Amino acid sequence: MPIRPAFLDLIASRRSQLRKELSVLLPSPVAITWEIGCGHGHFLTAYASVISRRFHVGIDLRLERIIKARRKGERAGLANCHFVRCEAREFLNGLPPHVTFSEIWVLFPDPWPKVRHHKNRLLQPKFFEAVAGRTEEGTPLYFRTDHVGYFREVYTFLASLTTWRLASTAVWPLEWPTVFQSRAPSYHSLVALRTAHPAKPTVIVAPGLPAPEKPTLPA
Ligand SMILES: C[S@@+](CC[C@H](N)C(=O)[O-])C[C@H]1O[C@@H](n2cnc3c(N)ncnc32)[C@H](O)[C@@H]1O
Repeated sequence: MPIRPAFLDLIASRRSQLRKELSVLLPSPVAITWEIGCGHGHFLTAYASVISRRFHVGIDLRLERIIKARRKGERAGLANCHFVRCEAREFLNGLPPHVTFSEIWVLFPDPWPKVRHHKNRLLQPKFFEAVAGRTEEGTPLYFRTDHVGYFREVYTFLASLTTWRLASTAVWPLEWPTVFQSRAPSYHSLVALRTAHPAKPTVIVAPGLPAPEKPTLPA
C-alpha cells in the first residue's frame, strides 16, 4: 500500500525537529553514553551522577516517560544527562556527524515475544552494524533482558558479527535496578565490545517508516 503524503510530511517534520534538537544539544564533537529505551530514567540519572565527566543521552518513544526522566535529572541537578523523545533508528540517522558513542546501554528492550513479531525487535544485525559506524574499537554495549529467547538471539547475532565481540569477563559498571528489572523474576546480561573491524556509516530505518532524504552520516 502506498504511503500517504500527509504521513510522509509528518515524518519529515519530526525528523527535521529531531535534527534541530540534537544539533542544539550536541553542537561540537563528543562521545556520549547512549541509553536506548530509558523509560523513566532510573538507570541513566544514577549512572550520570557516578560518571560525571561524561555526557549521557537517554531516549525513549514514550513522551510521559521522557518527561519523568527529565524531572529526575533536574531534581538531581545533572547538567551532563539529557533525555530525548524519539525512536532509536531515527536518533541514529538524525545525530550530527561529529557525535560518537562511548558506550551503549539497552536495558529490558521490548521483547516482541510472538514469533511473527520478532522482526520488530530493535537489536538485529543491521542495527549493530549501524551503531558500529559511530563507535571506536573497545566501545562497550551493555544489554540486559528477562526474555531468554531475545537474549539468545542477540547473543547469536553478536557472535556472528565482525564489528562486535562478546566480552564474557567484562564488568557491569553500575548495578542500578530499572523499573522493568525490579519486576523481573530473573534476567540475563551480556557485554559486547566493538572490534577493530571497519564499519561503514549506514542509514537504518525503523519498520513502517520511509528512508530519510538527507541522513546526517559521519564522514
Ligand atoms: C520494556 S521497557 C524498559 C524500560 C527501562 N529500560 C526499564 O528497564 O525499566 C522498553 C522501553 O523502550 C522503549 N522503546 C521501545 N522501542 C523503542 C525504540 N525503537 N526506540 C526508542 N525507545 C523504544 C519503550 O517506550 C519502553 O519505554
